[in-house]
Amino acid sequence: MTVEADGFAEAGLRFEVDGKIATITLDRPEKRNAQTFATWTALARIGADLPEQVRVVVIRGEGPSFSAGIDLRMFSPEGVPGQGSLASQAGLGDEAFDRRIAQAQEGFLWLRRPEIVSVAAVRGHAIGAGFQLALACDLRILADDAKLCMKEPALGLVPDLTGTKPLVDLVGLPRALEICLTARTVGADEAHALGLAELVVPSGELEQTVADLAAALLATDRGAATATKRLLAGAAGRTLAEQCAAERREQTARVRELFARS
Ligand code: ACO
Repeated sequence: MTVEADGFAEAGLRFEVDGKIATITLDRPEKRNAQTFATWTALARIGADLPEQVRVVVIRGEGPSFSAGIDLRMFSPEGVPGQGSLASQAGLGDEAFDRRIAQAQEGFLWLRRPEIVSVAAVRGHAIGAGFQLALACDLRILADDAKLCMKEPALGLVPDLTGTKPLVDLVGLPRALEICLTARTVGADEAHALGLAELVVPSGELEQTVADLAAALLATDRGAATATKRLLAGAAGRTLAEQCAAERREQTARVRELFARS
């Protein structure tokens, strides 16, 4: 079922819900799915209104590219009609500017929620904001023509759409530094070797592979999946003793719920 909402089409997004699977399609293929503030606002809105039954969220791009990143019109003095430009944002005070970026980040942050598993299905280019959107997802399945690039530093900016932490967590500081500061393109096979992708498949098999993964994820009990994601996601920030305590807490709740059911 396609969910229609004011602004989704203008934001270049399509949003469909099929039972427990939601699919967000970046849908401006003629502009390689370039993203604007409207895209990020719409993403945040999808996260805020996500139907309760949804357990897997797939993000994909229409056409040959996942996303060519921020709409380059944002760099022009005129900007994007109705949304201003980076130059007009620069005129905001510190607090207002901080809030503007935080609003954009909202579009990316919810994809980490424990109740869902988010999957980026990446074909072709994922540049800048496109790469960061893929990094915001829990899992990345790449077509063999995927090309990842953190272009922001080459344009005088920093990556600020929640991508720096997952990048460092996945590939380590030296490699993250090298990828960002050279703004080079990382191909699918290298991305897989670096841990940036769970799987690389021939382009024609991307959709089916993601559908199979979603089905496999849905076969696991929701409560167990949510608790396990919460546990794993928190592990890096805890000591072993703290993690053991977290395991005990989650397991106590699981066992109680299982036995209350039977
Ligand atoms: N913003 C706005 N329009 C874009 C963008 C973009 N980021 N990327 C592509 N387009 C438009 C092109 O201008 C072109 O429009 P036109 O047909 O009206 O001329 C159309 O999309 C197709 O682009 P091509 O370059 O012809 O497509 P191709 O498949 O050959 O190349 C590629 C794709 C590699 C993505 C190239 O378009 C590109 O390098 N785009 C810019 C990438 C970029 O620098 N993004 C900013 C990253 S930084 C950040 O996101 C914060």
